[in-house]
Amino acid sequence: MNMAINWILERVEESTSTNEDLMSRWRAGLLWEPVARMALKQTSGRGRMGRAWVSGPDTALTFSVAYPFKKGIQDLSGLSLACGLAVVKGIASATNTSKEDLQKMGLGLKWPNDILLNQKKLAGMLIEGGRLKTEEPTWLIIGIGINLNSNSNISAQIGREIAGVNDLAISTPINADLLWLELLKELGAVIVDFENSSFKKFQTEWNDWDVYKNKMCQIHQQDKLELEGTAKGVDENGCLLIESSGTLKKIISGDVSLRIAE
Ligand code: BTN
Repeated sequence: MNMAINWILERVEESTSTNEDLMSRWRAGLLWEPVARMALKQTSGRGRMGRAWVSGPDTALTFSVAYPFKKGIQDLSGLSLACGLAVVKGIASATNTSKEDLQKMGLGLKWPNDILLNQKKLAGMLIEGGRLKTEEPTWLIIGIGINLNSNSNISAQIGREIAGVNDLAISTPINADLLWLELLKELGAVIVDFENSSFKKFQTEWNDWDVYKNKMCQIHQQDKLELEGTAKGVDENGCLLIESSGTLKKIISGDVSLRIAE
């Protein structure tokens, strides 16, 4: 049976960062139950690789969930990819749009954990946390930021164009609270499934949403070009497969970034 997660819901006006809020609670040993914390405004949002996540009030949905995993961190690789799937599924339910239609509109996933709309970033994810003592669960703080509107001020601040859920060709504007609840439902289902199985269960579905599949790509590490080749989706552990000079190479998620070859 697929048990849903009963998230404790916290919805606050303002926070520096919902990830930081839950991380400091985790460090202080103050997390007991699965919790979901949403802030209408973040003053110091954090992104991957030490970058900032910039969003203004009403332009993005920003929230984090904290969940106690039985698995150790080494068995949780690929979770962020599975959570990306939860995001696109949540968008599908909240907008009442089929997967096929969303894909036709240009929605897709980019390894390891970006959600893109026609090559522009629509949402991002930052996972932090770990296990403090061996007898304790692995608490992961999964932070998700989803742009609602493509906002030119933010694009100017971060130096590239972004996309929003309201750029999808759907008739009614999205309600952020409804989207949040749908996302929590999908995240709950993915987390429970992941705990009871592994990434393998999500592999085919993830590859189906992969927007870089069969494209010439580059792997960069700290802005240095490491590898160039054709992206071939992910393997059963969530590693990216790149075909280069006739061999298939596996890229383990870490501080690497994937780009379309120019
Ligand atoms: C990225 O793409 O670099 C990850 C962005 C993650 C942003 C979200 S917004 C809610 C949560 N709180 C944060 O400070 N960051 C995450």
